[in-house]
Amino acid sequence: MIVALNNKCNLNKEEFTIYQQQLQEIKTDIDLILCPSNIYLDKVNLTNMKLGAQNVSDKECGAYTGEVSASQLKSLDVLYCLVGHSERRLYQQETNEQIKDKVKRLLSCNIIPILCIGETEQERNSHQEKQVIEKDLKEVLQELTPVEQQKIVIAYEPIWSIGTGIIPTTEEISEIIEFIKTKYPHNKVLYGGSANEKNIDELKSIPNLDGYLVGGLSLKPEQLKIFLKKLKN
Ligand code: PGA
Repeated sequence: MIVALNNKCNLNKEEFTIYQQQLQEIKTDIDLILCPSNIYLDKVNLTNMKLGAQNVSDKECGAYTGEVSASQLKSLDVLYCLVGHSERRLYQQETNEQIKDKVKRLLSCNIIPILCIGETEQERNSHQEKQVIEKDLKEVLQELTPVEQQKIVIAYEPIWSIGTGIIPTTEEISEIIEFIKTKYPHNKVLYGGSANEKNIDELKSIPNLDGYLVGGLSLKPEQLKIFLKKLKN
């Protein structure tokens, strides 16, 4: 079971120091992956978490001001990296073409991509969610070898659920997880979107789920502890 913590663009330096001390107290055999802002990647010193990044450049090293390359992440012992998060697709206009290149760069540096996919509210209302997910997965993964493809962790994140406190029904999530697993049976699949310590009892009943990607919850260590405890029970 994996729980990936997406801090997004949060925490200043002092806050991050305190946050890290709080995270250090967590004792669990669940695989925790901390994805802080890039500026803290080299400051993480936790024995109970693996290190993840929130983004990577689609270019190799060179004259790309402001970018951070996969090989630079690797040199900081980053093991995982989010790609294709809906916030980047929306605010940075990231395309599947760029996301595909990012995935390739990460794999060439032995960093496991956590590929985020999910439908908008409008797509859900017009029953297009499976089509959208299938298309995004295909466009990003089709050029990879089967061995490369199987390394990708897929995070199903319905966009209308991210940060809203609204989650799909467990039946709706199960249906999508099943759909993804039928097409990509060897990949780990996570759920993301307003997962928290209150709805985890419900969410953990979903069969075949390999874990969760949490945003808001990642910033609340006490609630996170409750979430992890409930997940194990
Ligand atoms: P949320 O974010 O848990 O705050 O909904 C999840 C994500 O964006 O990865």
